[in-house]
Amino acid sequence: MQVTVDPDRCQGHARCWEICPEVFSLDEQGHGSVTVEEVPPELQAKARDAARNCPERAITVR
Ligand code: F3S
Repeated sequence: MQVTVDPDRCQGHARCWEICPEVFSLDEQGHGSVTVEEVPPELQAKARDAARNCPERAITVR
C-alpha cells in the first residue's frame, strides 16, 4: 500500500501527522508529506484513518 499527499490540496491541517506520525511528517511550511515508500501492514489501518481525516481530502491511498 502506498499513500501520497497532493501538495496543491494540502492546507497544513496536520491531522495526518497527528494520527499516523510513522507515515506522515510535516515540512517547514507545515504541509504533510509521506516518509515511507511502502506502508507496512501494521500501519495500514492508521494510514487509512489519517487519509479519511484530512479535511482537504489531500491524501490518496493506493
Ligand atoms: Fe495536509 Fe491533510 Fe495532512 S491538509 S497536513 S494532508 S491532514
